[in-house]
Amino acid sequence: MDDFNHCYDLLLARRSIRRYEDRPVPEELVTRLLEAAMAAPSSSNEQPWHFVVVTERAALNELGERHPYAHMLHEAPLCIVPCGDLDLVPDGLGGEYWVQDVAAATQNLLLAATALGLGGVWCGVHPEPERIDMVREVLGIPERVIPFCLIPLGYPAEEKHPRTQYREMRVHHERW
Ligand SMILES: Cc1cc2nc3c(=O)[nH]c(=O)nc-3n(C[C@H](O)[C@H](O)[C@H](O)COP(=O)(O)O)c2cc1C
Repeated sequence: MDDFNHCYDLLLARRSIRRYEDRPVPEELVTRLLEAAMAAPSSSNEQPWHFVVVTERAALNELGERHPYAHMLHEAPLCIVPCGDLDLVPDGLGGEYWVQDVAAATQNLLLAATALGLGGVWCGVHPEPERIDMVREVLGIPERVIPFCLIPLGYPAEEKHPRTQYREMRVHHERW
């Protein structure tokens, strides 16, 4: 039960953090975040992901300018961009699972950030074609690789409280 309580506290503590202190995230922590991301489950264990780590101010600002809901990038010292590589997934319907694989990695990364005292927010890119093209252009991402989301990260400069979103009415036992 101790393990569950620890895990549940972390799950509730993860909130979208959009204000950051003006200090960099140490490289060792970036590596921890990427290790956590790549520990995610993936369909047939294909691990069809790549992660672009962005710290250059000009690129952070351009992404913040051109994504409609990621203005916090003007303040963030770091952005990690999880991507799906279409050359690493099988042909046919099975190939569609990359979206879920990269989403699982994204959530792992956000939870790890919380545990490390960092804050971040998932900013949607896929499946919006204009946002995909924009991120590809800014970061030089190849055509067969799809930027999935932007994750601005940093030391939190805002406090958000844990909260449950449990709704019993959304649970269906045995049948709908
Ligand atoms: C697929 C997805 C796309 C999102 N896109 C954005 C975004 O573009 N900008 C933003 O500020 N927040 C974005 N969010 C964060 C949500 O607004 C946030 O998770 C939600 O309001 C719940 O708040 P919480 O994360 O603090 O629990 C996104 C979240 C998800 C899962």
